[in-house]
Amino acid sequence: MNNDIERVLYSEAEIQTRIGEMAKEIEADYQGKRPMVISVLTGAILFTVDLLEKTDLYTTLDFIDVSSYFGAAESSGRVELVRDLKSDVAGKDILICEDIIDSGRTLQYLVDLLKERGAKSIKVATMLDKPAGRDASVTVEADYAGFIVPNEFLVGYGLDYEGYYRNLPYVGVLKPAVYTK
Ligand code: IMP
Ligand code: MG
Repeated sequence: MNNDIERVLYSEAEIQTRIGEMAKEIEADYQGKRPMVISVLTGAILFTVDLLEKTDLYTTLDFIDVSSYFGAAESSGRVELVRDLKSDVAGKDILICEDIIDSGRTLQYLVDLLKERGAKSIKVATMLDKPAGRDASVTVEADYAGFIVPNEFLVGYGLDYEGYYRNLPYVGVLKPAVYTK
């Protein structure tokens, strides 16, 4: 699997160091609060676990899964709820954990949904942010971002290509040969 990677963008050590910094920032911002962390399946699970391990706060954890569909007849992607939360978010301080924000449509959908359900506050932590991919309709942004990434297709540390490579401990770019197989 490692042989499919053309180059590493962020090493395991760089990622873990950066997450440590984000954890301290989050700790400071949530003093006296007990946020509910919402991890966006499947890509965000590695980041969520590493971030929470480094964060000295009382937190609860729940998961949500959404999918984007890009129908041929549609100019903009539609986001659909695939697996809902177990918990009620009304009155809660919510911290969404994402792997990457690209178009931002997934995040927009989630923030709108949680607001509608009466969340008290909503913040967003993302491992990677790809601002060049942002859709013009998107108004939400991350409050905590690990790395600002170039407009390339990335894998590893939760990010997949056809379901694989999520378990790489680093973030990298695939060899073009992998796509043309
Ligand atoms: P958005 O709705 O366009 O912001 O996309 C969010 C989702 O698309 C992420 O949670 C990822 O699952 C996926 N995604 C976006 N960019 C990449 C990438 O470079 N590699 C792998 N998955 C990506
Ligand atoms: Mg995702």
